[in-house]
Amino acid sequence: MKALILSGGKGTRLRPLTYTGAKQLVPVANKPILWYGIEAIAAAGITDIGIVISPETGAEVRAKTGDGSRFGVRITYILQEQPAGLAHAVKTAQPFLEASPFVLYLGDNLVQGELGLFLECFQARGLDALTLLCSVPNPSAFGVAEVDEQGRVLRLVEKPKHPPSNLALVGIYFFSPRIHEAIASIQPSARGELEITDAIQFLIDQQKQVEALQIQGWWLDTGKKDDLLEANQIILDDCLCTQLEGNIDNASKISGRVQIAPDSQVINCTIRGPVVIGRDCYLENCFIGPYSSIGDRVKLVDADLEHSVVLEGAAVVGIHQRIVDSVIGQRVQIKAAPQRPKALRFMVGDDCHIELCQ
Ligand code: G1P
Repeated sequence: MKALILSGGKGTRLRPLTYTGAKQLVPVANKPILWYGIEAIAAAGITDIGIVISPETGAEVRAKTGDGSRFGVRITYILQEQPAGLAHAVKTAQPFLEASPFVLYLGDNLVQGELGLFLECFQARGLDALTLLCSVPNPSAFGVAEVDEQGRVLRLVEKPKHPPSNLALVGIYFFSPRIHEAIASIQPSARGELEITDAIQFLIDQQKQVEALQIQGWWLDTGKKDDLLEANQIILDDCLCTQLEGNIDNASKISGRVQIAPDSQVINCTIRGPVVIGRDCYLENCFIGPYSSIGDRVKLVDADLEHSVVLEGAAVVGIHQRIVDSVIGQRVQIKAAPQRPKALRFMVGDDCHIELCQ
C-alpha cells in the first residue's frame, strides 16, 4: 500500500496568505496542515508516500517537509507542471504508484478518526475504490454522492447545481490500480480538469467494486479563512496538552491548556487556553483568549486577542481593542501610531480584508 498526497494548487481562496506560500503549509495549531495528513498516513502503517507538488510552491513544501524521516516514512516528490485536476495528478504519479493500491489524500484536508480503520475496510472488502463521505450544509461546493442503503455509490457528480444528496466527497480516497484505466478513459470536465470524481464514476459504470463510508467525526477542508479558524479551534480542543517551556513572569496568569515553546517571554499577561505559542515570542501586557495560535517570533505588546491565528514574525503593538476571528499573516505589523493627525494608516497587500469597529 502506498499513499499519494496532493500538495499543489494555487490556494486562491486563502489569499493573501497563499501569495507567499503553499496553502498546505499554512499552520493549524502551529503545525502545517500537510503534516497532519502525513502523520495520519504513517499511523495507518503506510511508509511509502508520494507528494505531488507544483512549480510555484514545490520547493517550499520539499524544504519544510524533508525526506520523511522525521515522520518515520519515505517521501518521494512528484512535480505536476500544470494544475490540470486531481486525476491528472494521479496520472503524473503513476511511475511512483506502479501497480500498488494507494490512498489519495488531498493535502489541505483534515479528518477526525483513524485512517487505518478505513484502510482495513478497503482491504477486507477487496474494493476498487473506497470514498469517504460527510454530510455538509453546502454540497454544491464539493463532489456529491448518491448512495444506496448498503453504502454502494450509485452516482457521483462534481460541484452540482442541484445536488442529489448532502453527502460531500471528503478529500481522501482508497484505490486499486484499476483507477489508472479509468483515468485513461475520461475527458477533461467543463472546468478543463481531469476529475477524480469522473474516474470513480467510470469505475461505477463498469460495475467495479466502489463503496463509500460515511464519516462520523469532523472533516475540515481548510480552503478559506473561516475553515482555517475552525480547524484551529478543533485541533486545539482535541490535541493540545499543557507544556510551559518559555519564561513566564509571576505577574502572568495562565489558565486552561496552554503550550508555550522555549525561548519565548511572557510578561504580565493573561492567557486562557487552549492557546499555543511558538518559539522566540515576546508577549507583554496582553490578554490571549481561547483558540489562539501564535507562531514563532511573534511580538505582542499591549494587545488583546482571541480565536485568532498569528503567523511567524508578526507584531501587534498597542492595539487596545480586542482582535477576534482573525488570521494575521507572516511579518504583518499592526501598531498604534504615535504621530498626529490621529488617523488610520495602512500599507495592506492585495486581497486583504480589514474590518474596523464603527
Ligand atoms: C476536490 C474534489 C471534490 C471534493 C473536494 C474535497 O475539490 O474535486 O470532489 O469534494 O476536493 O476537499 P476542489 O477542492 O479541488 O475544488
